[in-house]
Amino acid sequence: MADSEGGFSDPSILENLVASYGVVGAVVFGALVPLLFSIILVGKKKVKQRGVPVEVGDELGFAMRNSRYTELVEVPWEGATTIAALFEQSCTKHSRDPFLGTRKLINREFVTAGDGRKFEKVHLGEYQWETYGEIFNRACNFASGLIKLGHNVDSHVAIFSDTQAEWLIAFQGCFRQNITIVTIYASLGEDALIHSLNETQISTLICDSKQLKKLASISSRLEILKNVIYFDNDGTASDSGFSGDLRNWTVSSFSEVEKLGKENPVHPRLPSKTDIAVVMYTSGSTGLPKGVMMTHGNIVATAAAVMTVIPELGSKDIYLAYLPLAHVFELAAEIVMMSAGVAIGYGSALTLTDTSNKIKKGTKGDASMLKPTLMATVPAILDRVRDGVLKQVEAKGGLAKKLFNIGYKRRLAAVEGSWFGAWGLERVFWDAIVFKKIRSLLGGRIRFMLCGGAPLSGDTQRFINICMGAPIGQGYGLTETCAGATFTEPDDPNVGHVGPPLPCAFIKLVSWEEGGYKTSDKPMPRGEVVIGGFSITAGYFNNEEKTKEVYKVDERGMRWFYTGDIGQFQPNGCLEIIDRKKDIVKLQHGEYISLGKVEAALMGSNYVDNIMVYADPLHNYCVALVVPSHQVLEEWAEAAGIKYKDFSELCNKEEAVGEVQQSLSKVAKAAKLDKFETPAKIKLVAEQWTPESGLVTAALKLKREQIKNKFKDDLVKLYERSM
Ligand SMILES: *[C@@H]1O[C@H](CO)[C@@H](O)[C@H](O)[C@H]1NC(C)=O
Ligand SMILES: *[C@@H]1O[C@H](CO)[C@@H](O)[C@H](O)[C@H]1NC(C)=O
Ligand SMILES: *[C@@H]1O[C@H](CO)[C@@H](O)[C@H](O)[C@H]1NC(C)=O
Repeated sequence: MADSEGGFSDPSILENLVASYGVVGAVVFGALVPLLFSIILVGKKKVKQRGVPVEVGDELGFAMRNSRYTELVEVPWEGATTIAALFEQSCTKHSRDPFLGTRKLINREFVTAGDGRKFEKVHLGEYQWETYGEIFNRACNFASGLIKLGHNVDSHVAIFSDTQAEWLIAFQGCFRQNITIVTIYASLGEDALIHSLNETQISTLICDSKQLKKLASISSRLEILKNVIYFDNDGTASDSGFSGDLRNWTVSSFSEVEKLGKENPVHPRLPSKTDIAVVMYTSGSTGLPKGVMMTHGNIVATAAAVMTVIPELGSKDIYLAYLPLAHVFELAAEIVMMSAGVAIGYGSALTLTDTSNKIKKGTKGDASMLKPTLMATVPAILDRVRDGVLKQVEAKGGLAKKLFNIGYKRRLAAVEGSWFGAWGLERVFWDAIVFKKIRSLLGGRIRFMLCGGAPLSGDTQRFINICMGAPIGQGYGLTETCAGATFTEPDDPNVGHVGPPLPCAFIKLVSWEEGGYKTSDKPMPRGEVVIGGFSITAGYFNNEEKTKEVYKVDERGMRWFYTGDIGQFQPNGCLEIIDRKKDIVKLQHGEYISLGKVEAALMGSNYVDNIMVYADPLHNYCVALVVPSHQVLEEWAEAAGIKYKDFSELCNKEEAVGEVQQSLSKVAKAAKLDKFETPAKIKLVAEQWTPESGLVTAALKLKREQIKNKFKDDLVKLYERSM
């Protein structure tokens, strides 16, 4: 995922923009027309109430529901109480509509970069589609094949693979036989994988051919595993060299299992809504991963609720799927798409755009081939898109930059005045001259983007709104709440919040006295975010203690999950996440420091690519580990005449540390941080923090414990040396 921004650093984005459109006309238009329109500005719109207070069984806290629904939503339509029922009914209803699309591999080659590293480049063809009817038959065949293969229906099946069509087919197939699926993040390490498979007693593992190769080295530690099924659609499996000498596993290809099932049909054995559909292993920020048990009812409720938010969702839509399906956000999104009869085209983060790392030069990326109308993203990707576009604009300079800035300001004014769409002619003009090129990066037809996984900054949200010309539905939720908690509404022009409760859940704030957040706070009630309703999952697999700690059932029988996030309700009922319990440290003199808040502020320095603030409760100040931006720091070093062999040597230079520290102090001051919130000492870390390194999650959130562990000596030194 980290590489997906590759496509947005295409140096030709703004090229020819100015040349091909009348420059003088543009500037005149940009200056005069707005002036004219400003005169006819009308007054402010009335604020729409999106969330309203609701009484819940539990006296504790302050609860809110979606204003559009007085009762919680549980199903998208009557009778669709399980994912299996939802799938079957949707496939019947849309049987002739395209459902899953995959690009055929035309060829694959390796290029060697200047430094000797080898890169894979692929040339991918057009999307090949299968209809809802065809996919339904494949899922049924797979289900039968699985039973014929000897899988015991009372044991679980694990899927460990990159996102692809067969993932969803295997998933639906298992539900035809009431089999629980275990999913595991592909970015989790070997130990986490072994732990998850062992804890859930997996006898059948479904994986892609890339993962298949890795299994060989850990086979001796997978005692219970009997069957391995691998996806053989990418043309590499046949030569994967997976020899049969690995214990006594039965290794079959996905198509073999489908064929077996087609020849030996087995009666379906459908689940009920309270049966566990998925045990989803997520990276805990500490220790071993936890398996969250989701019922069919949980996932269906989230899907039903999200469907009410995306405007005019239907079979005319095309969704680009590329985020990991082992993550609840992507899984929920694809179930939503399936329920609405949307066509889902599969891609990957490394092949997303024409200039993505893995795309062969001169051939098309997934987005420009698919021309999707909908896609899901995570904030880290959108931040990079924004930075990429801004860098382009900066690099172009001159007139192109001026035009972009005027166009952006004009659109911003229109959007912020909730004028979305009202500026007919001017909007068309700016779209043509500035934004069309940027939009074409993602195929040019995006009409709605879903964003989740972490909070999105208001600036980025605006930027993407304007440049992509589409609203962003920002979702807030956790694996434990099956994603569904809050979702911003597309007609809401405001940023900086995560929307009102989804119709499937209530959101409650509970005072956290110790941390200083109370529901009686003015002007807005604040407290720990607690989520209740149909999307609240059944708890952690094999861990009753932890389950009891964070899940509660109230006297009316409603399940609530305590998130550990701190939030506040805006006057219109939208939730704003302002902090995280875990990330607040009480310093020696009793002040509370919010690490996340300080980090967000310090990210404002150009030098900072990533940063982790660390506060030792035995001191009265904080320190920080900073991953500096290579480009910015190197440019500074050159200008300052600093000599160095490589980047890590530069990071150790006192001058470099001093320069970055000074920049941080400046940013801290501008953000009105207190003295104890400004890092007293910093260390520059040359290496990037990536999900592969285990220092950030798949959604690029910091894994504090892991980072702290890796740099523990440095942190000790930072405290020793300071003041
Ligand atoms: C698998 O789990 C069992 C207990 O259920 C434990 O005794 C065993 O050591 C585990 N094996 C591995 C490889 O983790
Ligand atoms: C595989 O099966 C054979 C015979 O069925 C048995 O002797 C052998 O111990 C098994 N190997 C493993 C690694 O389980
Ligand atoms: C589905 O499987 C679970 C676990 O094996 C079982 O408890 C449940 O009764 C099954 N559901 C139905 C409807 O048969």
